[in-house]
Amino acid sequence: MKAAVLVPAAGLGVRLGGGLPKALRELGDVPMLVHALRSVLAAPSVAAAVVAAPADGVDAVRELLARELGPRAPVTVVPGGSTRQESVRRALDALDASCAVVLVHDAARPFVPVDVVESVVAAVEAGADAVVPALPVVDTVKEVTADDAPAGAKERVVRTVDRATLRAVQTPQGFRREVLAAAHDASPEGDTTDDAGMVERMGVPVAVVPGSEDAFKVTRPFDLLLAEALLNRRRAEVDSGGVPSN
Ligand code: CTP
Ligand code: MG
Repeated sequence: MKAAVLVPAAGLGVRLGGGLPKALRELGDVPMLVHALRSVLAAPSVAAAVVAAPADGVDAVRELLARELGPRAPVTVVPGGSTRQESVRRALDALDASCAVVLVHDAARPFVPVDVVESVVAAVEAGADAVVPALPVVDTVKEVTADDAPAGAKERVVRTVDRATLRAVQTPQGFRREVLAAAHDASPEGDTTDDAGMVERMGVPVAVVPGSEDAFKVTRPFDLLLAEALLNRRRAEVDSGGVPSN
């Protein structure tokens, strides 16, 4: 069974700054969206992609992808919306109805490893309605409040959360197509940035598979430095005759 991937790429990238929509920011002379698409399409189980592009840049993104991935790449481009949820919805509506397994992958995660994509698809094929890749949380996590903050501070600690049961969730998230469509139908006007969260709210169990540090999301300027370092390491591995560690 082949999967299709929806790639929300219409965000402004306010936290990153720099004036360009984030998906079009370059990493090593190539826009982040192109890295993200190459990474997911490299997975043997992924057959096609639908990109939700910035609404005023659809033609430019089509031209970019034809140039970078070739005119016959199995990629459709549609206008994204003003929220991530709306962008995912628009990409889902453009998807071929025969597609039973759907992934949703942020354009802002340029380097997801193939084995993460494959294990998400495999879990859906094995019967899961929804799947997220996730990593253990490494920092100590505390719940805080602004109520009764001590002098000199804006917040105080309410409690320390047990980290052992916490996970940081990444993309691609995987779904049976009908389940993702039902989740979006259930809250059509929402602003949810986590598709699996919408499925959870319908009472449907969500499976968890191991994520990867390489699947991190570029959100702030520091993440761009990290992405550039990762790209340089991969290019050095290829130049020295090895295979990239993806
Ligand atoms: N996204 C989208 N449509 C939107 C908002 C976000 O397709 N209206 C996409 C982004 O392009 C990104 C992914 O959703 O690939 C994850 O969102 P995020 O990291 O928050 O990106 P931005 O919304 O662009 O960044 P910011 O929130 O800092 O503006
Ligand atoms: Mg955002």
